[in-house]
Amino acid sequence: MQNRTLITKKNLEEKVGETVILAGFVETKRDHGKITFIDLRDREGIVQCVGYKMMGEVTTESVVKIVGEVKARPEKMVNKEIETGGVEVEVKEYEVLSKAAELPMSLDTEGYEIGEETRLKYRYLDLRRKRMAKNLRARSEFVRAVREELYERGFMEIETPILSQATMEGARDFLVPSRLAKGKFYALPQSPQQYKQLLMAAGMERYFQIARCFRDEDLRADRLLELTQVDLEMSYVEKPEEVMEVVEEVVKGAIKKVGGKLQKEQFPVIAYQEAMKKYGADRFDLRSEKEKEEGILAFAWVVNFPFFKRVDKEDAAEIRDGKSGWTFTHNPFSRPLKEYEQDLMEGKNIENIITAQYDLVCNGYEVGGGSVRAHTPEMLTATYKIMGYSDEEIRESIGQMLSAFELGTPPHGGIALGLDRLMMVLAKEKSIKEVVAFPTTGSGRTAVMSAPTEASEEQLAELGIGIGKKV
Ligand code: AMO
Repeated sequence: MQNRTLITKKNLEEKVGETVILAGFVETKRDHGKITFIDLRDREGIVQCVGYKMMGEVTTESVVKIVGEVKARPEKMVNKEIETGGVEVEVKEYEVLSKAAELPMSLDTEGYEIGEETRLKYRYLDLRRKRMAKNLRARSEFVRAVREELYERGFMEIETPILSQATMEGARDFLVPSRLAKGKFYALPQSPQQYKQLLMAAGMERYFQIARCFRDEDLRADRLLELTQVDLEMSYVEKPEEVMEVVEEVVKGAIKKVGGKLQKEQFPVIAYQEAMKKYGADRFDLRSEKEKEEGILAFAWVVNFPFFKRVDKEDAAEIRDGKSGWTFTHNPFSRPLKEYEQDLMEGKNIENIITAQYDLVCNGYEVGGGSVRAHTPEMLTATYKIMGYSDEEIRESIGQMLSAFELGTPPHGGIALGLDRLMMVLAKEKSIKEVVAFPTTGSGRTAVMSAPTEASEEQLAELGIGIGKKV
């Protein structure tokens, strides 16, 4: 639309006495006999528009174009509630670009009281709420700030495959059947873990990606099936502190850019054992009640996790990974701290081996996790031996990583920040879905669209798949 003016205080106050073209949604409409008032909303703001003997038929949430004159309001009439309250627009002409039917839900409130099914079925409407639009804007700005911080430190943004092979992040995989290789499946990545390490073998030195990850796990208020990570990896790293320092700078820089308030300029570092003793958990909230009200962000690092744990007999993934009865606590690609290297190589004192893993927590949530990796074939093999893998199983599972490490790979380490969780904390929301444009329902159905759906007979035949009897 040519010559459109966006609704900001500055734009409109500059143009008092002039004619402007505005376009947006009708937030509210009030009819007073011959006069109709509408509040017009665009991506920047809201302004009152006044029509004489016109606009009576306009419905709320319709999309309209307005040509009108900006008028200063008399002192007494200034509306302090809205930013543009010092002016109003007297409508000369208008056009309904898209008429809205009766809404399936109210947009007047924050929306928390409305059922999830309705909110997600009409998510495009739900996102018109001020709160939701603000959350998405904040997310966009945070990602931009993170990108800037990373680019400044020499990181390169690289995409890794979505059609991939099963990785070990401890959740179930989403599988995608292959047409070209009938009866075989891709797995959607639970994280770009192996590919980002392979990028270190490729000499990229500093990689990052705003990465989509897929985990078929039971949903909770802080969990999604499809999540986004700020994923990064860096070469020539020997100790956890080297990655933690860079990540802390990036996080602090980005948080400040979006106006977040940090509790401490330097994130406290707490050992796992100490955290368990003090808080009974490896994620904890360091804020006082007052700080909670003020929206302060209390970050902390947790380090010195045990590398291995006994397999939980109730957990299918753990049983699969921990063939010896031992499985990894966080990440099988981690290295142990230097002083435990000998024990790992010899498979001794397994319960005491400490991994070079670090988690980032904020306001009671785990918002990130990473480690310095094993970068020699011998060390990675030793980890898998402890978990009871045979030589053949090792080759099958991580042969590609071992080959890469045999062909020269710098020592490296990295982290993944849970972007959705971080945004949930930043936006002071209690559910992670409030900061995602189109999350799934609690039962895993997609927003607006109704996947998962059945596939047609033809599609299934082409994939060589037969569906068994419905249970
Ligand atoms: P991890 O599995 O700890 O590590 O994941 C990193 C961070 O991602 C977030 N997260 C989730 N957020 C929403 N929904 C989920 N289902 C979900 N699962 C995880 C958390 C978590 O801290 N490859 C390693 C990282 C590395 O070692 O570099 C990994 O994915 O905030």
